Amino acid sequence: MDLKEVDVELIVNGRRHKLRVGTNLSLLQVLRDRLGLTGTKEGCAAGDCGTCTVIMDGRAVLSCLVMAFQADGHAITTVEGLAAGKKLHPLQESFLEHGAVQCGYCTPGMLMSAKALLDADPAPDRETIKTAMSGNLCRCTGYFKIIDAVEGAARKIGPASTARGAAAGAATGSSKAGEGR
Ligand code: FES
Ligand code: FES
Repeated sequence: MDLKEVDVELIVNGRRHKLRVGTNLSLLQVLRDRLGLTGTKEGCAAGDCGTCTVIMDGRAVLSCLVMAFQADGHAITTVEGLAAGKKLHPLQESFLEHGAVQCGYCTPGMLMSAKALLDADPAPDRETIKTAMSGNLCRCTGYFKIIDAVEGAARKIGPASTARGAAAGAATGSSKAGEGR
C-alpha cells in the first residue's frame, strides 16, 4: 500500500512542533517516537485501557485512537506538561500522598483524565470522579486510592484556588482565577 505523509503542527505542552508524519501514525506513536514524550504509555492500542490518555483542546482523548494528522493545529497536554518545573501538580502530589501509584503504568493516563475532569469541574462528587475515570484501567490499586487521590487533589486546587484567584483578582483587577494551576 502507498503510505502518504503529511505536514502537521502539534502544540504540545505549549511548544509548537512542525513534523512530517505518515497518515498511518497515531498521535500516541508520534508523541512517544518522534517527540520523545514517553510518559504517555501504550497499553492496548485499541481504545480499551485509557493508559494513553492525553488532553486535546481541554478534553481527555485516547491518543492511540487519534491519528497524528487529526491533531494538526490542536493543543495537546501530556503528563510531562503537568508539573511546573520541579513543582508537582496537585494531582501528582495527591496520587503520591494517597498511595495511588503502584506499578505506575496506568498513572499518566489516570492523571490526564483526572486533570480534564478537575479543569471542567473543580469540585466533583465521588460518583462523578468514578464516571470520569471509568475508561482508565488499573491492575494494581483496586481504584479506591485513585478516587481518593482525585478527591484530595480537588480539595487542594478547587475551592482554595478559586478563593486565591478571587482574592488576587480583587487586588489586581485580573480575571485569571485559574492561573498557577
Ligand atoms: S493504549 Fe490507548 S486505550 Fe489502551
Ligand atoms: S498502578 Fe499498576 S496498573 Fe495502575
